Amino acid sequence: MTIKDIARIAGVSIATVSRVVNDKPEGVGPETRERIKRVIIEYDYRTNLLAKSMITKRTRSLGLILPDVSNPFFSNIAKSVELAAMEEGYQVFLCNTDEDFKREQNYIAALRDKNVDGLVFIPTTRQKRDERALRFMKPVVLVDRLLPGDFVGVYTDNMQGCAAAAEHLIQLGHKRIAYVGGPVNDSNASDRLKGFMNACAKFELDIPEQNIMAGSYTINTGLDYAKAILRLGVTACVCANDLIAIGLISVLKREGRHIPGDISVTGFDDSALSEINDPPLTTVRQPQAAMGRMAIELLVRMIAGERVKSRTLQTSLIIRESCKST
Ligand code: RIB
Repeated sequence: MTIKDIARIAGVSIATVSRVVNDKPEGVGPETRERIKRVIIEYDYRTNLLAKSMITKRTRSLGLILPDVSNPFFSNIAKSVELAAMEEGYQVFLCNTDEDFKREQNYIAALRDKNVDGLVFIPTTRQKRDERALRFMKPVVLVDRLLPGDFVGVYTDNMQGCAAAAEHLIQLGHKRIAYVGGPVNDSNASDRLKGFMNACAKFELDIPEQNIMAGSYTINTGLDYAKAILRLGVTACVCANDLIAIGLISVLKREGRHIPGDISVTGFDDSALSEINDPPLTTVRQPQAAMGRMAIELLVRMIAGERVKSRTLQTSLIIRESCKST
């Protein structure tokens, strides 16, 4: 796909396309400008633009889109992204999508119109995506959650992390274990469930289907599933993030259960809340600050025209007081 093809498809001269691409649209009508931009996005001319660093106008600003700013995991990443970006001389526009796909698409369009130089993007849980909306002709670095397509991203090893949490409980002697997962179409949630099931299979633990639940990465999911977990008569529960675990523990305690005396519970993230929880939560640490810094390092290199590769950072099991041997 060359600039000549773009001109042919848009029905304009090469010079007109060049003026729009180089942000010198004098003499190019708004409808023509929009038509050329649509053709560029539609035919993914972005790749050529990036490779040839033909995007001229820099605004020294970046976009950051994340799903839930009230979740300490995401706000920790936002803090790290903003600090690293400021050190590189960029300001950051923070967009909270509240896990809403339509709002996410609106923010992508708004940031494109603001002509930010790049985007750090934590997508809403995966759905059918309009990939064109993501190709806003500027570099994008995903964080935490995968999207189909050739995107650079900073991820953690979710499968290994959740397997470590499950193995910790199994080695404490637990055999009747429940699992409360994240959204079924989320790449992290499916990897964590796989890690849990692999660990149980490794120790030949047969986990009944009704022990496996799926919800959202929120306190409410922990609140909602607590009574079901009590009915299962399990001695332990692995949760796909800290907020689920915190919600679960609060209801179990209200129902007169002791944590970990009656039920051991593990979380995932190690955001600020897990350490101050009562009892302090055994969890899987995701290196949130490092994820944010790494995203900015990769994005700044992409803006400079470098080709960079995705990174996967390690998780670590943080043992506190919410688990005990049976
Ligand atoms: O707590 C929010 C969860 O959603 C985290 O585990 C993170 O990995 C994100 O996917």
